[in-house]
Amino acid sequence: MVEILREKNLYHLRNDHISYVIGIMPDQQTAHIYLGRRLNRINADPVLRHHGSGDTKNFTVQNCGLDRLPQEYPAFGLGDQREGALSVENADGTVAVDLRFESAEITEGKPSLQGLPATFGDNCRTLRIACADPLTNVRVELLYTVFEDCDVIARSARIINNGASRIRLNKAMSVSMDLPDDKWDLITLNGAWARERTAYRRPLMPGIQGVSTQCGASGLQQSPFIALARPRTDEQAGETIGMALVYSGNFAAQASVYQYHAPRVMLGINGADFSWLLEPGEAFQTPEAVIVYTNQGLGDMSRQFHSLWEKHLLPQRWVHRHRPVLLNSWEAAYFAFDEEKLLGIAKSAAEAGVELFVMDDGWFGRRDDDTTSLGDWTVDRKKLPSGLAHLADGVRALGLQFGIWMEPEMISPDSDLYRQHPDWAIHIAGRTPITGRNQLVLDLSREDVQQFMYQAVADTLKESGASYLKWDMNRNFSNIGSAALPAERQKELPHRYILGLYAVMDRLVRDFPDVLFEGCASGGGRFDPGMLYYVPQFWCSDNTDALCRCQIQYGTSYFLPASTMGSHLSAVPNHQTGRVTPIETRFAVALGGCFGYELDPRALTEAEREAMKTQVRYAIRTETTRLGGRFYRLLSPFEGNATAWIAVSKDKHSAVFTYVRAEALANEPSALVKLQGLDPDLRYQAEETGEIFGGDELMYSGLLCAVRQGDASSLLLTLKAVD
Ligand code: DGJ
Repeated sequence: MVEILREKNLYHLRNDHISYVIGIMPDQQTAHIYLGRRLNRINADPVLRHHGSGDTKNFTVQNCGLDRLPQEYPAFGLGDQREGALSVENADGTVAVDLRFESAEITEGKPSLQGLPATFGDNCRTLRIACADPLTNVRVELLYTVFEDCDVIARSARIINNGASRIRLNKAMSVSMDLPDDKWDLITLNGAWARERTAYRRPLMPGIQGVSTQCGASGLQQSPFIALARPRTDEQAGETIGMALVYSGNFAAQASVYQYHAPRVMLGINGADFSWLLEPGEAFQTPEAVIVYTNQGLGDMSRQFHSLWEKHLLPQRWVHRHRPVLLNSWEAAYFAFDEEKLLGIAKSAAEAGVELFVMDDGWFGRRDDDTTSLGDWTVDRKKLPSGLAHLADGVRALGLQFGIWMEPEMISPDSDLYRQHPDWAIHIAGRTPITGRNQLVLDLSREDVQQFMYQAVADTLKESGASYLKWDMNRNFSNIGSAALPAERQKELPHRYILGLYAVMDRLVRDFPDVLFEGCASGGGRFDPGMLYYVPQFWCSDNTDALCRCQIQYGTSYFLPASTMGSHLSAVPNHQTGRVTPIETRFAVALGGCFGYELDPRALTEAEREAMKTQVRYAIRTETTRLGGRFYRLLSPFEGNATAWIAVSKDKHSAVFTYVRAEALANEPSALVKLQGLDPDLRYQAEETGEIFGGDELMYSGLLCAVRQGDASSLLLTLKAVD
């Protein structure tokens, strides 16, 4: 899987489908040679790969040679005019680092990254390339892992100060690659609260383009993902490079096109307002970035990501474990409940076959609205006079599991915790704290705060015996300062915060291995591979409107699998849009993720409550196919009036097909949708209609999707192989 061609100074990582080639130049610079389809042999001489006219055989850094060299980890300061991946401020105040290749080492498997989530696995090999600056002894170790079972290269960098003086990192990206041409479209996922992850696609242009965040989280407005696709690439064919960052904080993901029409693609911690001091002997570990390459279109890119996370990132004990069908109290009660009301909702849910009841926000302190009590994690006796355990036991007595909501990273100015520890909030001394949703953010760079947060969550889990925890996070950073950090380290706070968060989550998921953690950040505001290392599922969006969810889930699927998306059927009129959609459509769309309810079943009609029983049984029966199968996008809600997707079991013997037509048209044209992922040689029976189709027929000729009149009509079909 990793081949060293010593006579050519080439390092070749490959699996059955892809190759990644790194070259070492005569000046010991590391050059990017190739990412693409698997190469059997390489004859190319890395020296010939640089741009510009002149003597191609004798590459040198003189005369700004680095500006013409496709590089692996470019550093600022030695003549490369492009934006670098690494910026080192030396003890003398100069900003320059000259990284020369020193050694390479190949190991079986994959080392973990200290303090950070990262992919893992045995069926992979890792190449470690070490470079160092001969003057300052700053050393950089570049890690490259190639997986046998996914068409992915994982990369990260470790910067070590082996010099005698302290240095400051102003930027340290996880990955950088200089590609040979710019005939690509750039795809990003952008959005807002309740409108997360719309896919945008545009041609690469000269200049810098991409997504980045400084809000303290990966955020609602962008995801740590970009893809480059050839202009003709579609879902099923065409070259595509997808990149994602295993990180939950401020990030930048960009593709910059420079003078030779050669894009430099970089992902990593956002260098804006970041810096990190490294004392002699200290090291800085960047988060991991993963690179998918395929020539089989965007669909395959997504399935490569899905399979990578499932096999090599997600908490393995949950990947193939049943996710209970839950009912969450938020839209059913908001803050207005007491024990009797919750048990009433839970009883009705239990009668419908729901398996887990989740008490959302509002159970602690004096929390009757969002202005108070975050940090005071003791039960509100006015609402729950007999305590948490009593309510939880009552829920369990109904035959349900009990789940609970917390927002552990936050503190309300109106809380006992804030009155005792105002310094525990992120703030700048002398400035009025700026609240968001009336709350402040706890300073997780501090170990005492980390310990408090761990204890608050652990105590709540123990007291309630909860088997599920919804871990929410509802605001971005402002007034970014820590009372515990010296002036020279204040810019380290956002990354230290994320390290603190990961440390606590790591401890909690180890100490409570049977608790199902679901992430949430005002919906999908921190829905990224970093969080998914700890929590197997994430609340995809606060928007539960079926038509909006078609877009949100479709966009999310570009890099995250259905098994990670919390997805609930809610009441109508929808609480976010006011739209009324048929219950069948709300059900069909919510099945695109970890299925549950966000409503008060007692407010449903008798017929709807009956339907609920069938829905729960169906959701459980099809779970392995829907969440464990392969996911194919068929019709994009970003391009037309209809959405369609299909999940096909790995053995291709069953499939769940979903079609939603948004706006009703008079005299509608017929909708023939070509399915994907089935076995062309098998025949499939549609459970709902009894009809039998050939797999080839469904994929090559198509399935006629006739839906009822009216907006937001849908078709849900369960296909089972009959041969
Ligand atoms: C934001 C979440 O996304 C909602 O689902 C809900 O849990 C509220 N927070 C509670 O405050």
